[in-house]
Amino acid sequence: MRTIHELGAAVIGSGFIGTVHIEALRRIGVQVQGLLGSSSERGSDRAARLGLARAYGSLDELLDDPRVEVVHVTSPNHLHFEQVKRILAAGRHVICEKPLAMDSAQSGELVRLAAGSDRVAAVNFNLRFYPLNQHLREYIADGGLGDVRLVSGHYFQDWLLLETDWNWRLEPEHGGALRAVGDIGSHWLDLTGFVTGLRVSEVMADLATFIPVRRQPTGPVETFSQDRSAETVARDISTEDVATILLRYEGGARGAVVISQLSAGRKNSLQYEIDGSSGAVAWDSETPDHLWIGHRDQPNELLLRNPALMTPAGRQAAALPGGHVEGFADTFAALFRQIYADVGRGQMSERPHYATFADGHEEMLVGDAVLESARSGRWAAVPRELQATGRTLEDAHT
Ligand SMILES: NC(=O)c1ccc[n+]([C@@H]2O[C@H](COP(=O)([O-])OP(=O)(O)OC[C@H]3O[C@@H](n4cnc5c(N)ncnc54)[C@H](O)[C@@H]3O)[C@@H](O)[C@H]2O)c1
Repeated sequence: MRTIHELGAAVIGSGFIGTVHIEALRRIGVQVQGLLGSSSERGSDRAARLGLARAYGSLDELLDDPRVEVVHVTSPNHLHFEQVKRILAAGRHVICEKPLAMDSAQSGELVRLAAGSDRVAAVNFNLRFYPLNQHLREYIADGGLGDVRLVSGHYFQDWLLLETDWNWRLEPEHGGALRAVGDIGSHWLDLTGFVTGLRVSEVMADLATFIPVRRQPTGPVETFSQDRSAETVARDISTEDVATILLRYEGGARGAVVISQLSAGRKNSLQYEIDGSSGAVAWDSETPDHLWIGHRDQPNELLLRNPALMTPAGRQAAALPGGHVEGFADTFAALFRQIYADVGRGQMSERPHYATFADGHEEMLVGDAVLESARSGRWAAVPRELQATGRTLEDAHT
C-alpha cells in the first residue's frame, strides 16, 4: 500500500480539461511528472505556464518515464482509443476522459484490454463526485424514494449557439457520430444511472441539427474560448445540436432527457428530477450544493451539502464543511482521491464509485441505441446482447 504522495502521473492534453486534471492532482498531492501536448512546442509552452518540469516529445517518451504510473487522457475523443491501448500495453494505470472512445466497438475492446490487465482503468465521469450525488446514490439504494418511477431532466449549454461558434467536437472524425449526446448527454446518462442504480433498456430519440452550415475559423480554437480569427470557411455540419430522448429502464421506470448546446443563457446546466413511489429529489449542477427533496404530505426540504447530514459516501466526497460551496473543480479532487487510493493498493475496488471502462462502454452502447432510434424513428434497444457474445457492433453489421 503506497500513499498518494508517492504516486506519479502524467497528463495527455493540456486544454480546458487537462488543466483541471493537473490542478486537482497537485491539490491531492500526486506528483505530476509532466504533460504531452499536440506538439513539442505547444507542450513546452503549457508545461512552462503550469510550472511543470517536463513536456514529453511523444507518447513513447512519456511511457518510457518510469516515474509515471498513471496516465490521464484528456485529448480530443478520436485519440482516446489508441492512446489508452498503448498506456495499458505499457502496464500503466489510466484515467480517460469521456467519451471513452469513438464507438462501442472501440470501447468494448478497451473493456476487454482493461479486464485482461491488473491496472486501474477509469473514465472521468466527474459529476458523480459532487458530494450530494454520492449521498443520493446511497439514499436511493436505502429506499429513500421508494421505487424509482421517473427520471427526467436536461443538459443545456449555449456555447455552440451561433453559426460562428466552432470546436473540434463539431467534426465527427474528431468528436464521434453523436455530438451533444456524446459530449454532455453521456454525463447526464451516467450520472442518473449512477444515482438511481438503473440501466437504460430502450430509447426513442430525435436528433436535430439547427445549424447545418457553420463558419470555421481558419486558426485554432480552444474549447469555450471567445477568441475568433477573422477569416472563416463554411463547413457542413452533420452532428446534432439538440437531442430529445425518451428512456425505458430495466425494471419498468421511465425517463426523458433533453440535451442542447444551443440554449442561450444556459452555460452548463445539468438538471435531473427523480420521482419515486414515496418521494422525489431534484438537483441542478449550477447550484450543486443544494438537493431538493419533494414530499407529498409534508413540506418539501432543501438539503444543503453538509458532511454532518449526508451518508458515508457523501461525507467521503466532501472536502469542506457545509456552507463553504464546493464546485466543478472539487469533483476532480474527490474522484482522483478514490482512484489513486486504488492505485496505491495496486488494484481496483470491486464496485468502485468512480466510472469504470464498463461504465464508459455502457454510455457508448446507449449512444448506439440513440443513433439507431433517430435513424429508424422507432424505439431501439441498448445492444448489450452483442457484448454477451463477445461480438462487436461492427461484426453485427457485417
Ligand atoms: N469531464 C468533463 O467534465 C469534461 C469537460 C470537458 C472536456 N472533457 C473531455 O476532455 C477531452 C478534451 O476536451 P477539452 O475540452 O479539454 O478540449 P480542448 O480542445 O480544450 O483540449 C484538448 C487538448 O488536447 C491536445 N491535443 C490534441 N492532439 C493531441 C495529441 N495528439 N497528443 C496530445 N495532446 C493533444 C490539444 O492541444 C489540447 O490541449 C474530450 O474528450 C472531452 O470530451 C471532459
